[in-house]
Amino acid sequence: MAEVFNWHLGRKMTYAFDEAHPQRQFVAVFNINRCIGCQTCTGACKATWTFSKGQEYMWWNNVESKPYGGYPQHWDIKILQLLEAAHQAAGRSAEWDPSKAGPTAPYGVYDGLTISEAAGAEEQALGYLPPDAEWRAPNFYEDTSTAYPGDRLGISLEGASLPEHQTWFFYLQRICNHCTYPACAAACPRHAIYKRPEDGIVLIDQARCRGYRKCVEQCPYKKPMYRGTTRTSEKCVACYPRVEASDPLSEGVPMETRCMAVCPGKIRLNGLVDVTADGAWVEAPDHPLYTLVRQEQVALPLYPQFGTEPNIYYIPPRWAPRAYLRQMFGPGVDQAIARYAAPSRRLLAVLQLFRTTQRMIFRYEVEEGPLVLETEVGGLPWQMYDDTAIGFDAQGREVARLSVIEPIYERPAERVNSI
Ligand code: SF4
Ligand code: SF4
Ligand code: SF4
Ligand code: F3S
Repeated sequence: MAEVFNWHLGRKMTYAFDEAHPQRQFVAVFNINRCIGCQTCTGACKATWTFSKGQEYMWWNNVESKPYGGYPQHWDIKILQLLEAAHQAAGRSAEWDPSKAGPTAPYGVYDGLTISEAAGAEEQALGYLPPDAEWRAPNFYEDTSTAYPGDRLGISLEGASLPEHQTWFFYLQRICNHCTYPACAAACPRHAIYKRPEDGIVLIDQARCRGYRKCVEQCPYKKPMYRGTTRTSEKCVACYPRVEASDPLSEGVPMETRCMAVCPGKIRLNGLVDVTADGAWVEAPDHPLYTLVRQEQVALPLYPQFGTEPNIYYIPPRWAPRAYLRQMFGPGVDQAIARYAAPSRRLLAVLQLFRTTQRMIFRYEVEEGPLVLETEVGGLPWQMYDDTAIGFDAQGREVARLSVIEPIYERPAERVNSI
């Protein structure tokens, strides 16, 4: 086992391979607060990549209702239980120390065990192989909320108010995280899984794979999926032809993936960030993903304690209990929600850029506009300005221009009744 630095955990950890980083990393931010659970993303991925024989139960993109839903069923509860048992056996606790937060440890330091550190002698990572029955439904428990001491029609007499509702669920959008330290790659005895140096996308070489399913067992997010007809495993390929700009629609610049580009809830923003030789993100205050993840820290990794350094980030839902969210997204949750609830001018501008173009945005500018609202959020004064966010593609061409206040078009009188 080698020692590698994981900035999500703020410390070194053990991993199967020596530390090596791509020049750029495929990254996305999903804003849970905006997702309407329409599954358009799920359908787009299936229609593009998994519509063939043997792929019937394969959902590379899925959206599950938390806390009960999951694909495969209970994937996160099961791995959390295994990790908890490993901590108990070792007489340790899975604590974070947020007081040690700093530039290389934005969420503080994780003092517990990762799935790699908790692995048995024979394994690269703690894991389990879900039985077939657990893959049978992509969103079992869809829209099922938590039980609560509510009143008639499920409406609480005490009222439900932000930041936390008494009864709640939220949608969790999931694709492969194209992890910095992929457990799937570490697990494969055939070395069939690799991380591309040009964009950090993690792929399974179908010619090398012999169907051992150690990747399925040891990916904590359960994103490699076995295909009986070919006896190989497959997974999200990050729509790499679009990222490579080889899609005919791309006009020579990297495009966002299919599941990102179709999202009607406008919850997804996808791009490439530059990475240094030691794995840090190159400082880029005018890159929308750098602003969301590193500067404003409003988007957080999913289960960072697993230790794979996942590259899909989430803006946590404002209404769900904080303890549940801290378990899922780490100790940065309270700050992320506070910043999302009362966004800075810069953050509010970047939030306008979600789903405005299929091309990846590599840089943005903000044109300042007038003050339009003065109010209080959480007892503190907050102002809203009608600023304009402008996004540029990989060749520096303007591809998006959105103001905070949406323009209103009044229908001319002669067309007032036409649709
Ligand atoms: Fe591998 Fe799982 Fe990470 Fe995807 S999410 S790169 S399948 S460990
Ligand atoms: Fe599917 Fe592409 Fe989305 Fe991956 S990035 S889940 S391959 S649509
Ligand atoms: Fe949510 Fe967007 Fe997927 Fe619809 S398409 S379920 S809004 S992530
Ligand atoms: Fe390896 Fe997974 Fe195939 S463990 S051999 S990539 S099924």
